[in-house]
Amino acid sequence: MATIKTMNNISKKGLGLFGPFYQVSDSIENPDAILVRSAQVDTDNFDGLLAVARAGAGVNNITIDKASAKGICVFNTPGANANAVAELVMTVLGMAVRNADKAAAWVKGLDVNDPDLAKTVESGKKKFAGMELAGKTLGVVGLGKIGVLVANYARWKNMRVIAYEPYPNANNMHELSNKVEIADLDTVIANSDFLTVHVPFIKGVTENLLNRKNLAQFKGSYIMNFARGGIVEMDPVNEMLASGSLQGYLCDFPTAELIKNDKVTCFPHLGASTEEAEENCAVMAVEELKDYIEYGCVRNS
Ligand code: MLT
Repeated sequence: MATIKTMNNISKKGLGLFGPFYQVSDSIENPDAILVRSAQVDTDNFDGLLAVARAGAGVNNITIDKASAKGICVFNTPGANANAVAELVMTVLGMAVRNADKAAAWVKGLDVNDPDLAKTVESGKKKFAGMELAGKTLGVVGLGKIGVLVANYARWKNMRVIAYEPYPNANNMHELSNKVEIADLDTVIANSDFLTVHVPFIKGVTENLLNRKNLAQFKGSYIMNFARGGIVEMDPVNEMLASGSLQGYLCDFPTAELIKNDKVTCFPHLGASTEEAEENCAVMAVEELKDYIEYGCVRNS
């Protein structure tokens, strides 16, 4: 009987697919395989480990080099949570340009006993006037499953989309709406009103992909990072926010410094946190492990 260790609030919905021939528990000491969401996994801590499946796209919580050295297969679930992330990105951008979260919080903070309440409410119209997405240019950095969905959603909102893909052979470009312009990174940065990154974090490769040098060309108002911290160099972003040349930074990776900055809207790594995405990821991860253990079949590793 194969043993699978589950770690870190993995959705239980897919686990039934293992059927009766697997022992699945979070307390197995030296499992054949691990099923994990965001917990750190040091593959050296397990004897006889064959595989790790990450219920998500990024695998930076797993010691990939150590796993490779020992022939341990590491799987991820590309695309299984892409829609959840893409929907959040477009929602957050839409709210930012309309000052929607700020305006709603302002209304909630009003004095309901104010005799001039209606007049005060009305003053919010001017105070929180925003802009529209239609006709603006969205720069998409990375055309994997998430980037493609974001690009297509933006097109459906009548935005112009200009995109850069660092690995053109391993992408989903055939799924793109035909009106997305493909360009090099500098051109994308220089021509966008809003920039959004959707590449994995790879140390020394996509680390600081948006950096002081290329961000100097950005003339737009919002930068979004719902991929991973570390892909956007923060010192120049903080300086741009402080000088007012950048209106806001929207991200899914809060740090103490980001939380304190009023021009930063950050979320608790919420991109993939929908019922649907959690179930999709869990099912895909379970199927990958089963196929590997039962048939030696490797996909998404
Ligand atoms: C991902 O890499 O797909 C996300 O980080 C998933 C998650 O939030 O668990």
